[in-house]
Amino acid sequence: MIETRELRKSFKTRRGPAVEAVRGIDLDVAEGEIFGFLGPNGAGKTTTLRMLATLIEPDGGQATIAGADLRREPGEVRRRIGYVAQGGATWDDSTAVEELVLQARLYGVSKSEARARATRVLDAFQLSEYADRKAKTYSGGQRRRVDIALGIIHEPRLLFLDEPTTGLDPQSRAHMWDEIRRLRDEGMTVFITTHYLEEADALCDRISIMDHGEIVASGTPASLKRSLAGEVVRVGLPLPAVAEASSVLSAYKVDVLEDGLRLHVEDGASAIPDILRLLDASGVPLTGIELHRPSLDDVFLAKTGRSLRESAE
Ligand SMILES: Nc1ncnc2c1ncn2[C@@H]1O[C@H](COP(=O)(O)OP(=O)(O)OP(=O)(O)O)[C@@H](O)[C@H]1O
Ligand SMILES: [Mg+2]
Repeated sequence: MIETRELRKSFKTRRGPAVEAVRGIDLDVAEGEIFGFLGPNGAGKTTTLRMLATLIEPDGGQATIAGADLRREPGEVRRRIGYVAQGGATWDDSTAVEELVLQARLYGVSKSEARARATRVLDAFQLSEYADRKAKTYSGGQRRRVDIALGIIHEPRLLFLDEPTTGLDPQSRAHMWDEIRRLRDEGMTVFITTHYLEEADALCDRISIMDHGEIVASGTPASLKRSLAGEVVRVGLPLPAVAEASSVLSAYKVDVLEDGLRLHVEDGASAIPDILRLLDASGVPLTGIELHRPSLDDVFLAKTGRSLRESAE
C-alpha cells in the first residue's frame, strides 16, 4: 500500500541552518494493516505524512501510494487516500452532517449518496445524536470523531491519521482504537502516527520508530520487544541515592532515570537477589524494585539512548 525509498525533506529557516525533518526513509506498509509511526515531538512524523498525502513535495526519494506514483500521479494518490490532520479540519459553525455531505460531494459523490453515507458514518462513529449541532459545541473527543469520519466518507483504501487520539481521555481513546480496528477489519489500510507507547503496542500490527528524521527500528511490537535479549529490572530510589546506587551497581548495564535506575540483565530471577544484596551492603535505601520484559520504550531507549516516555514528558 505504501512503499517509500530514500524519502527526504528539509525546511529552510530564516535564521540558522535548514531543518532536516525527514532524512531518507524507507517504508513498506502492507494492505489491510494498521501501521504505526511512533516517535517523540519533532521526529518528523507529520512531515512524512504530509509528503505521503501530497500536501508538501519531497526534496528527494520515491514513493508509491496505493499503487500510484507520488510524484507523477499526485491526483490519483489523493483520490485513493483519506488524510486526517493533527489539528483536525472542522469548521466551528458547520454541523457534522454539513461537513460530511460537503466532503463527499467534493469527491464527486451524488447528493443522495452523500446523504446516505453521512448517515452511515455518523452512526458508525456514534455521532448521530450531535449530527445537527455546530462543531464548536462538540467535546474534543466528538470533534476528533467527526475529523475521522470526514477522512473516510469517500471510502478510501488507505487512511492517514495524524495523532488521532492525542488529548482524548482513556475511555475515548479505547473507543477510537475500536473504530480504527473496525476500519481495518473492513479492509482499509490505516497509517497512524502516535507518541503513545501503549497505543503503538496495543493497536498497531506493525510499527516504525522514528527519531530525528530517521527510522531507527521497524517490525511488529512483539518482534521489536523480542529483539532485546534479556529482561529489565527497575529499581526505584529516592533522588539523593540515585548516583550512589548507580556506582554500586556499575557491574550491570545501567540507565539512570529520575526516580531510580533501569538495569538490563540476562535473567531477572537471579539478578534481583544480587542487586538487593549490593544495595543493602552499601546502605542505599530503595523505594521499590520490579522486573519486566522489554517494553517498546526499552526498544526506543536501546536505539536512541533516550526514553520516549521521558522525552514526551
Ligand atoms: N514548515 C516548517 N518550517 C520549518 N521547520 C519545520 C516545518 N514543519 C516542520 N518543521 C520542523 O521539522 C521537524 C519535524 O516536524 P514534524 O512536525 O514532522 O514532527 P512530528 O514528529 O510530527 O512532531 P509532533 O509529535 O510534535 O507532532 C521539527 O523540527 C519541526 O520544527
Ligand atoms: Mg506531528
